[in-house]
Amino acid sequence: MQYIEQNHETIIKSESLRQHVVTNQPLMISNLSRKITGDLISHGVSIVHSFPMNDFTKFNELAQSVITYPMNYKGGTNSREDLGGGTLSVGTEPPDVDVPAHNEMSYWHRYPEIIMFGCKQCPDGKGPTVIANNLDITKDILSTSVGRKFKEQGVKFIRNFYNEDSKQHGHSETCLRSWQQAFGCSNKSAMIKLCEKENWGYSFTEKDDITISYKLPAFEFDPALNENLFFVPIGCHGYAFDHWAPYNSLENHRRPYHLTYGDGSELSTDDINTIEQINDAHGIPIFWENGKILIVDNRRYTHARPPYKADPMKPREIGVRIGNPIERYGQREITKLFSSVY
Ligand SMILES: [Fe+2]
Repeated sequence: MQYIEQNHETIIKSESLRQHVVTNQPLMISNLSRKITGDLISHGVSIVHSFPMNDFTKFNELAQSVITYPMNYKGGTNSREDLGGGTLSVGTEPPDVDVPAHNEMSYWHRYPEIIMFGCKQCPDGKGPTVIANNLDITKDILSTSVGRKFKEQGVKFIRNFYNEDSKQHGHSETCLRSWQQAFGCSNKSAMIKLCEKENWGYSFTEKDDITISYKLPAFEFDPALNENLFFVPIGCHGYAFDHWAPYNSLENHRRPYHLTYGDGSELSTDDINTIEQINDAHGIPIFWENGKILIVDNRRYTHARPPYKADPMKPREIGVRIGNPIERYGQREITKLFSSVY
């Protein structure tokens, strides 16, 4: 497929981010896709400017070319709207809620290797998505007691889902998604079977809402870097709901999601601040413009969304595609790069 543009150039900025400007020379989607794939291998991130985004049609074509195996959000924390052709809306967090740095679906047994964001309508002030090199984050985290405890203990996730068959579920006050939506289970016995197969802890309420819990390694091996990268999405801690009504009236473990160290011990406020400060220190803001696309290697780069200014007349429209699923490699014994802190 071709579209009209003027020129195609590659800019390497001081941050080593690869940026492609689509202007008015005819360009094959496949050529752009090849450049993006090359960027992901060499840098872990690629940015496209001035891409046609009147709707998500061209973005879908590009995504299908970059992503070999598309994924949905089965098992995900958020409900998402289908914007057409497989492109989904970004999370439902209100604009004034800070979404801390995370690797997409790093709270799950399976995660996408690639995540693509396409901006149809940027928010006022171009409110950015902030990316950060996870190798830098990992190095700093491992120099702290928080990182060492996570390395030793792993991370435990606690997640709450409502039962959409309940006539009196009142779910809007406790959960973001139903277990039927999140896991594709049509009845309670299928849900129990899944929990037992996956070895998740679980308990149902009277209304058959469910709490599940499971433990994962806090670091994830990256075969290309031969390094274990920090893989704890601190935004999955209950504190992420502190400014999000009505969830902020609940205890952390009753909020839609929460995390602890793998031994069940809670993170202190200082522990959370340590992680946030390290994430912030390495953040690179990518300010949105209409037609801008951001593609990241989802292990090598984290992404975050600081609060942004919402305009009801001009809502922020950013679509997301994820794909190339990876079953967790887990944390591996290695002896290079950061061996001194291992
Ligand atoms: Fe995300």
